[in-house]
Amino acid sequence: MNQSHITRLLRQTFITPYIQHRKSSSQNIIRDGIVGMVGNTPLIKLKQVSKETGCEILAKAEFCNGGGSVKDRAAYYLIKDAEKKGQLKPGGTIVEGTAGNTGIGLAHMCLSLGYKCAIFIPDTQSKEKLDMLKLLGVQLFPVPAVPLTDPNHYNQQARRYAESIENAVWTDQFDNLANRLAHMETTGPEIWRETKGRVDAVTFASGTGGTFSGVGMYLKEKNPNIQAVLADPPGSVVYNWFKHGKLERAGDVSITEGIGQGRITGNMQGALVDDALLVSDTESVEMVFRLLGEEGFFVGASSGLNVAAAVRVAKSLGPGHTVVTCLCDTGQRYYNKLFSETELKKRGKGFLFA
Ligand SMILES: Cc1ncc(COP(=O)(O)O)c(C=O)c1O
Repeated sequence: MNQSHITRLLRQTFITPYIQHRKSSSQNIIRDGIVGMVGNTPLIKLKQVSKETGCEILAKAEFCNGGGSVKDRAAYYLIKDAEKKGQLKPGGTIVEGTAGNTGIGLAHMCLSLGYKCAIFIPDTQSKEKLDMLKLLGVQLFPVPAVPLTDPNHYNQQARRYAESIENAVWTDQFDNLANRLAHMETTGPEIWRETKGRVDAVTFASGTGGTFSGVGMYLKEKNPNIQAVLADPPGSVVYNWFKHGKLERAGDVSITEGIGQGRITGNMQGALVDDALLVSDTESVEMVFRLLGEEGFFVGASSGLNVAAAVRVAKSLGPGHTVVTCLCDTGQRYYNKLFSETELKKRGKGFLFA
C-alpha cells in the first residue's frame, strides 16, 4: 500500500457511516445539542474479519459521538457527577488530566453548557489532538510525560490546579466511578439491546478502564457466560496484572494513545476479567490498515488493537459466535503519526510500505 492509495481510501471513508448514523438517529429522535450526541452509536458488522473467522465481529462506532470518541460517554457522566455533587456552579471550570480524547469530549460539552475547561496532557500525544483542544478554547497545559508517582505527572498537576482556583472541579476520570457508570448505563445496554442479547464475548483495550469494566459488569449481570477479554498494548501493566498477578510492564512503549496503564485504576478495580491479551503494535497497526483497505473505516490505533483482539477471541471461540468491541476514534486524530510512511518507518514499522 502506498501513500496515494491511502489518501484515496481516506477520501472514500468515514463520511458514509457517519451520515447514515445521523440520518437513522434523526429519523427516530431529535438530539438535544452536543450533549444529546453522546451514545447510541451504530453497531457495525465488520464484514471481512467476520467472514474470515466465521463469527460475527461487531464494533460500536464510537467516532460517531459528538466529540468524536468513546470518551464522550465518560466526559458527559463526569460533568453530570460534578453537577450532582454540587462541585460545579454556573461558569465554573472543569479540569482534567487526559491523553486527549476525554479532554476533547469535555471541551465540546463545556462550550455548550457554559463551563470553562482546563486540560493537562502529556506532550507525547498527537499534534492533532492538541490542535483540536486549542480550537475548542481550553486552557491547555501540555506537560512532559513522567511516571505517575512524579508530582509533575499530568494528572497530579490537574488536581493541584483545580484546587488552586475558585469554582473548579478535577473530574478525575481514572478513579471517579462516574466514568464506568457511563458504560454500565449506556454502552453495555446498547450492546445488549442491539445484539438482542446474542453476544458471546466483548473485548476492549483499557486506558482508565471505564469502557472495559462498565460494559463487562453490565453484560455479565445480564448473562454471566459472556466473556470479557481485556486487550492491552505494550508498555502497560494490566496484562501482567491479570495473567501473573504482577504490576509489571509488558513490553516497551506503544504507538497507541489513550490506552495502556501503569496501575490498576479505581475504574478497573473489581472489573470482571475472563482473559487478557497482549497485542503488539505491529498487529494493531496492521489492523488499522486492514480496516481502512478492506472495510473503509478510518480509525486510530486503539481501534486497530480492539479489532485485532476481537479476531483472536473469535478464533479461540470458533465459528458461530458473536464478539463485540468498539472503534474508539477516527484516524484523523493521528494522521501525521499513524498514516505517515516516514513516521512508521522511524518506529521500525515500515512493513506496510515494504
Ligand atoms: C483512543 C482511545 N481508545 C480507548 C480508550 C480507552 O478507554 P477507557 O478510558 O474507557 O479505558 C481511550 C481513553 O482515553 C482512548 O483515548
